[in-house]
Amino acid sequence: LLVAAGLFAAAFLLGSVPWGLIISKVFYHTDIREHGSGNIGTTNAIRTMGKVGGYAVFVLDFGKGLLSGFLAWVFAWNFLPGGGFAPGALVNYDTMLAAAFLGCVWGHIFSPWLKFKGGKGIAVAVGCLFVTFGWVGACLELLIFIVLVVATKRVSIGSIAAAMACPFFAAYYFLIVTFAPLAWLFCTIAGLTVVWAHRENIKRLRAGTENRIGDKKKKER
Ligand code: G3P
Repeated sequence: LLVAAGLFAAAFLLGSVPWGLIISKVFYHTDIREHGSGNIGTTNAIRTMGKVGGYAVFVLDFGKGLLSGFLAWVFAWNFLPGGGFAPGALVNYDTMLAAAFLGCVWGHIFSPWLKFKGGKGIAVAVGCLFVTFGWVGACLELLIFIVLVVATKRVSIGSIAAAMACPFFAAYYFLIVTFAPLAWLFCTIAGLTVVWAHRENIKRLRAGTENRIGDKKKKER
């Protein structure tokens, strides 16, 4: 458990780097939090800085997630018996992947550099999921996201649905395919945290005032 906690802390630190804010300050001389939805993530980065800045934020946030998966591999390989593949262990390789996922997503959402107010965790989660669930699971999650975004023209609907699907994908991978209940728990908490991070979006959706794709720089907070 100590190894998983160490990995969680390392992934949290990695996830806490607020790329959206850094890119907006360094290259656009503005604070992304003062524009659009006020979020530091890709959607608001595209809204505020256009495609180049927005995609840069996506790549960097996605990269944090991917790198946290790599960290899980490094920690498991170096600190767990049998690289995390010893039979019957409570903390195994899958648990490590899920601990890195939760750590990175929490680091992004509760960034200590932003007084524990960060982003909403979507790009980061997708990056992590390519490692945690593998490419098939991650692509299916992406498919849910893309279909709903295209159908509703609201990024938050795709994000919330994909986050809600996370516990179910995790149940398939970590309760049926392999048996790692802690990994399922960590993924479920991560998914629910991402839904919680969208609470303002949920309020706006209910009020019918949520941003649609194409709405530019509307102050919605
Ligand atoms: O991933 C964030 C997205 O779901 C919503 O972003 O800026 O519209 O709140 P935003």
